[in-house]
Amino acid sequence: GHVSVVILGGTGDLARKYLWQGFFELYINQVSSGHSFSFYGGGLSPANKSTPVLFQILKALNCPKDVSKERCAILKEQFLRVSKYKQLTTLEDYQDLSKSIQKHLQQEGMVEAGRLFYLSVPAFAYAEIADRINSSCRPPNGAWLRVVLEKPFGHDFKSAQVLATQLGTSLKDEEMYRIDHYLGKQVVANILQFRVQNKKHLDPMWNKYFLERVEIVLKETLDVKRIAFYDQYGVIRDVLQNHLTEVMTLLTMRLPQNLSNSQEALTNKLNIFTSLLPLSKNQAVIGQYQSYQREVQQELNKTKDHVSLTPTFAVLAHIDESQYEDVPILMISGKQLDERVGYARVLFKDNVFCLQNQNSVHCKPKQIIFYFGHGNLNYPAILVSKNLFKPSVIDSDWKEVTEHKDKNVTVLGLPISDYYVQTPKVQKESYTELISRIFAGQQNCFVSTENLLASWDFWTPLLTSITNTFPRIYPGGAANNDMLDILLKGRDLSYINEVVLIGDNQMGGQTANHFQVMQGKFRNDEMVSGWTEELIEKLASDIEEAAEKAILEGGVFHLALSGGASPLALFHRLALHHFAFPWRDTHIWMVDERCVPLNEPESNFYSLHDNLLQHVKMPYYNIHPMPVQLNQRLCVEEDKGTWLYEEEIKKFVNASRFHFVLLGVGYDGHIASLFPGVKPEHHGKNLVVFTESPVKPHQRMSLTFNAINQAQKVGILIIGKYKHEAVIQMSRVKEETAQWPVTWVKPDNGNVLWYIDYEALLG
Ligand SMILES: *[C@@H]1O[C@H](CO)[C@@H](O)[C@H](O)[C@H]1NC(C)=O
Ligand SMILES: *[C@@H]1O[C@H](CO)[C@@H](O)[C@H](O)[C@H]1NC(C)=O
Ligand SMILES: *[C@@H]1O[C@H](CO)[C@@H](O)[C@H](O)[C@H]1NC(C)=O
Ligand SMILES: *[C@@H]1O[C@H](CO)[C@@H](O)[C@H](O)[C@H]1NC(C)=O
Ligand SMILES: *[C@@H]1O[C@H](CO)[C@@H](O)[C@H](O)[C@H]1NC(C)=O
Ligand SMILES: *[C@@H]1O[C@H](CO)[C@@H](O)[C@H](O)[C@H]1NC(C)=O
Repeated sequence: GHVSVVILGGTGDLARKYLWQGFFELYINQVSSGHSFSFYGGGLSPANKSTPVLFQILKALNCPKDVSKERCAILKEQFLRVSKYKQLTTLEDYQDLSKSIQKHLQQEGMVEAGRLFYLSVPAFAYAEIADRINSSCRPPNGAWLRVVLEKPFGHDFKSAQVLATQLGTSLKDEEMYRIDHYLGKQVVANILQFRVQNKKHLDPMWNKYFLERVEIVLKETLDVKRIAFYDQYGVIRDVLQNHLTEVMTLLTMRLPQNLSNSQEALTNKLNIFTSLLPLSKNQAVIGQYQSYQREVQQELNKTKDHVSLTPTFAVLAHIDESQYEDVPILMISGKQLDERVGYARVLFKDNVFCLQNQNSVHCKPKQIIFYFGHGNLNYPAILVSKNLFKPSVIDSDWKEVTEHKDKNVTVLGLPISDYYVQTPKVQKESYTELISRIFAGQQNCFVSTENLLASWDFWTPLLTSITNTFPRIYPGGAANNDMLDILLKGRDLSYINEVVLIGDNQMGGQTANHFQVMQGKFRNDEMVSGWTEELIEKLASDIEEAAEKAILEGGVFHLALSGGASPLALFHRLALHHFAFPWRDTHIWMVDERCVPLNEPESNFYSLHDNLLQHVKMPYYNIHPMPVQLNQRLCVEEDKGTWLYEEEIKKFVNASRFHFVLLGVGYDGHIASLFPGVKPEHHGKNLVVFTESPVKPHQRMSLTFNAINQAQKVGILIIGKYKHEAVIQMSRVKEETAQWPVTWVKPDNGNVLWYIDYEALLG
């Protein structure tokens, strides 16, 4: 019968690169078997504009290698004759399309086999197009309708469900073909076939007793291309939720009795999701390549203090509870990594001990690699290490590789000669493969509605839980070195290196050095003011300058930081932009602390750690949290926490003179945890005291005025319009007063610098 193919977005990028080529090859394969075709490139532009564009694309099509030049010319000519551009904007356009299909069929006296619509358009347009197809382009009874959709299929469970419901009103489930182009990669498309064919060997070992772990990896060297899209999605939604999850299900699902039975395969796939344990935040690590922030700021016209937390790198460990209990399945993907490669590695437990010849083949890793492409090997292949078994070749389209062009090539720790290798005889594009499967109605190569929702159901809680997590910043390419190496401990994942060093040489030689700041006086001390981001930039570089000076003079820099919300932007700035900061020789002290355990979000140290310390490389013995918790209790006088901290200061800090103390000011004029009503004489010569806050948690530990006033530099940071009133008040009080603790800040032998942003200064 006759098949009409309509590609919406027919002159777009995807169509130009892959779709027309795929349909051309379908045409070549199917015309000989008695089908006839017409092809429509659909789009929003008028036909007189887009027709030439479409024919440019069609003229560039290639025949497969096994087609002779003469035959190719004939086929192309025929293909061009059955293809045309059709403007598809209004409902009438769709009705018109349907009419012309019918008219064509009548004229030629042909029977209709089906209609295939390929929606290569943004997802927001799906529902409307599907509705128009349903209302005006359904073929008469007996012929099939297939509508192909491209990701994204939603953004989380809810949006995916909304989209599915909308589409469900226009299309039946079996009429929808959701493409995951990964499923068209030749190796991925044959994972099940491989498992079936080698069942005899695999059955006994495809379980928790023999599997060590599974790694599903897609590494990219490129950076993000479509920032506006990507910044909303990130690597997990872009790659893990779909491509890598599909591979995971193919590796772990129960094998269908009959591979050609689509329904059974889809059901078994769905069952995997019900056996997965929920993912928690501890099972993921995320990263972001360093120049991403700048790209986002530029592309999206954001200011310099805009911080995007979108991950461009992620590792997930998930574990399911039955057949593969406690076998970690890692999914890893990222941009700007050291190499471009995609594979799934199934590693078996090491159950052999070689007493003498440790290089013997028995002692090497036992693994099966599904190699999707690129990387060292540079062609798609399935590799089975020779110490496992000799696999049978998939089918007549595959061949065993015994001669290797580059004998020295190693794949995941083993020289190529230690593997049985098989590869497709002819390499095919995913889209070409998938288009032929759409034509064959093989739905198990596509993502069903149920599977899609199950996958989002699995991923959404994790995505929600990491929304506010600060990703590890990595420099990109080979310079990532071991920064993204991970440690798997039970079910939890973490980066191996808890701290990160990004060297001078990796920051691209950029040091912004122009400040749009205003200098002035506030309360007789120096003041700088500017828009928040510039102010923070200035403060960060002043701190860095003080650090460099102190280290030059005495080899060490003592910095005391306060808690609260104001310094968070500073912490982000220091972590993200000051890669040359001498963290190694810097000691970090706390100005004050709340009497809560340090691992609670309320703790000042917790927020300092989360926002700064974990992102920079500094020796942990240079970090000095306040000992609020001793003997398993909080801030009890007789545990002598204040005395201990004081001793620690005296021991490390020359003359107890911090080089830089950073303070904020509360609405009520408090600084550190020194609240209105307190006077310096209350604390005598003490450097550290317990205090009472009017707000919860009431108990605090704090540096005293005495400790603060010994510092060489005291910076006071005030940002936000809500502080404006306090700023006005402070500018008016001349004398020291217990009502405004900040008025007692007068370094004996140092100076105060006020950092007040425009909003706080000018309201
Ligand atoms: C296409 O046709 C419209 C009217 O039918 C005309 O206004 C327009 O100029 C034409 N464009 C081109 C590129 O020929
Ligand atoms: C398609 O449209 C018809 C009305 O034209 C409607 O009855 C039907 O429910 C729609 N959806 C499907 C999936 O057929
Ligand atoms: C496998 O399924 C296909 C499609 O449903 C069917 O045609 C075929 O007969 C089945 N084969 C066996 C051995 O059951
Ligand atoms: C950013 O600004 C430029 C020039 O002002 C504009 O052309 C562009 O569309 C803007 N981009 C976004 C994402 O707003
Ligand atoms: C393989 O490695 C050996 C020794 O390292 C070297 O001599 C040889 O040239 C290499 N061969 C290829 C094809 O790179
Ligand atoms: C320590 O402090 C004293 C007094 O302030 C000063 O004279 C001395 O140079 C300092 N030592 C170092 C190593 O900075």
